[in-house]
Amino acid sequence: MRVFLLLVAFELSWAQYNPNTKPGRTSIVHLFEWRWADIALECERYLAPNGFGGVQISPPNENLVITNPWRPWWERYQPISYKLCSRSGNENEFKDMVTRCNNVGVYIYVDAVVNHMCGAAAGSGTHSTCGSYFNSETHDFPAVPYSGWDFNDWKCKTGSGEIENYGDPYQVRDCRLVSLLDLALEKDYVRSKVAEYMNHLIDIGVAGFRIDASKHMWPGDMKAFLDKLKNLSTTWFAEGTRPFIFQEVIDLGGEAIKASDYYGNGRVTEFKYGAKLGTVIRKWSGEKMAYLKNWGEGWGFMPSDKAVVFVDNHDNQRGHGAGGSAILTFWDSRQYKMAVGFMLAHPYGFTRVMSSFRWPRYFENGKDINDWVGPPSNGDGSTKSVTINPDTTCGNDWVCEHRWRQIRNMVIFRNVVDGQPFTNWWDNNSNQVAFGRGNKGFIVFNNDDWNMSETLQTGLPAGTYCDVISGQKEGNGCSGIKIQVNGDGTAYFQISNSAEDPFVAIHVDAKL
Ligand SMILES: *[C@@H]1O[C@H](CO)[C@@H](O)[C@H](O)[C@H]1NC(C)=O
Ligand SMILES: *[C@@H]1O[C@H](CO)[C@@H](O)[C@H](O)[C@H]1NC(C)=O
Ligand SMILES: *[C@@H]1O[C@H](CO)[C@@H](O)[C@H](O)[C@H]1NC(C)=O
Repeated sequence: MRVFLLLVAFELSWAQYNPNTKPGRTSIVHLFEWRWADIALECERYLAPNGFGGVQISPPNENLVITNPWRPWWERYQPISYKLCSRSGNENEFKDMVTRCNNVGVYIYVDAVVNHMCGAAAGSGTHSTCGSYFNSETHDFPAVPYSGWDFNDWKCKTGSGEIENYGDPYQVRDCRLVSLLDLALEKDYVRSKVAEYMNHLIDIGVAGFRIDASKHMWPGDMKAFLDKLKNLSTTWFAEGTRPFIFQEVIDLGGEAIKASDYYGNGRVTEFKYGAKLGTVIRKWSGEKMAYLKNWGEGWGFMPSDKAVVFVDNHDNQRGHGAGGSAILTFWDSRQYKMAVGFMLAHPYGFTRVMSSFRWPRYFENGKDINDWVGPPSNGDGSTKSVTINPDTTCGNDWVCEHRWRQIRNMVIFRNVVDGQPFTNWWDNNSNQVAFGRGNKGFIVFNNDDWNMSETLQTGLPAGTYCDVISGQKEGNGCSGIKIQVNGDGTAYFQISNSAEDPFVAIHVDAKL
């Protein structure tokens, strides 16, 4: 009996690490600031047919409206209530999105902002996305309701009430992060309100949560509200399925709070991943791709089964958060495609692809003074819809990296090689590297400043394969480079350092 109980506890405590994506769908995409109506369409017309497992959405709850004179993206990280009412749409549109995406096997992951409410200086009134009244001075949020008793001010020991020193874990978790009113998650009442919000989303059919600012909450307080969560809806998920949990903890090393503090609650965002990969692909600090041979735990990253990985996210693509100027983004598209390609080919971690909007990036003294600009919007402040061009790219300043051929085809590559080991590593001790995934796929990079011409062991069955970077298999033909794999598994690769994309990827589903 004792053994049985332990086994059950073990299984339950493991469930929240499972992304809950359908078998054979191994990545999610962050459709940053997209409207629910557009996400529903994208699930049906693009994500499901191309093997995407899910979508991380922007916070769906009511938030502060900031107009100065345009609306910043970060207003959505200033909650006013847990009503499902935001720039992305209302509750009916939210339900329609979840239903339609789930029905085509693409699941929804909610960005849950539960560490705090709006900034202390937000004032009072009804300038919120649903028009709910609030007063930041008296800490009154009647639409939840929260009152002055539900915040941490008494607990914070700094003079300013703000986090002043990241070396002190009490400050990081009990004080205000950039003036945001810090919820008292040690109170069962607050935990219950947070769980009620998340359970409402589970009832609608979401598959899991990114938990914003997890570093600023005590892991035990988080566990307390996570333990109150329901199992996922049996309309779409097997009975007893726990919500996928991944926690935003920025840990680049050298701080009091470590990503490992949070493993007990679910997966954690591995911020070292994009910072290091950007440095390598840019060839900064003496890094080179040959060093990627032991990428993953060998680089001091968290265990693969705890990690959510990404090349860039909505914060660090615009200089917020972590990683600084090493982070690769769509603005550096050639190197970005190589980095995303490497990530999707490599077995480490659970992968998230970024999908951005273009903003009027403008540097003054090394800082982007427009890093705050919100999504493409109409004159009345409403978010512009995502239009699709005849060539399948997006209009209205939506970047849609997930629709770039190279990235979309590598999402498919990852699905094809799922479960296969990391094999046949090769490098030239510089920036030409290659590796395989068992007998299912092989990828080759030339990030050196000279041409590459090598015969390599691919591990693949003999045949003619279509490179999914320069093109793809179309019917019985190939719109890209063809690669001939010989009977002994070797193949000849020639990659010009000036190629539009200096990498080649082949897999068994792109065999001609
Ligand atoms: C989730 O499902 C499991 C297995 O069916 C069950 O034992 C557990 O009580 C459920 N948890 C909740 C919170 O409903
Ligand atoms: C990298 O590979 C090329 C041939 O593909 C070779 O000419 C070059 O010397 C190699 N660089 C190093 C540092 O080994
Ligand atoms: C590298 O390859 C490209 C394409 O094949 C070719 O045009 C170029 O001359 C080559 N460069 C060198 C230095 O051999």
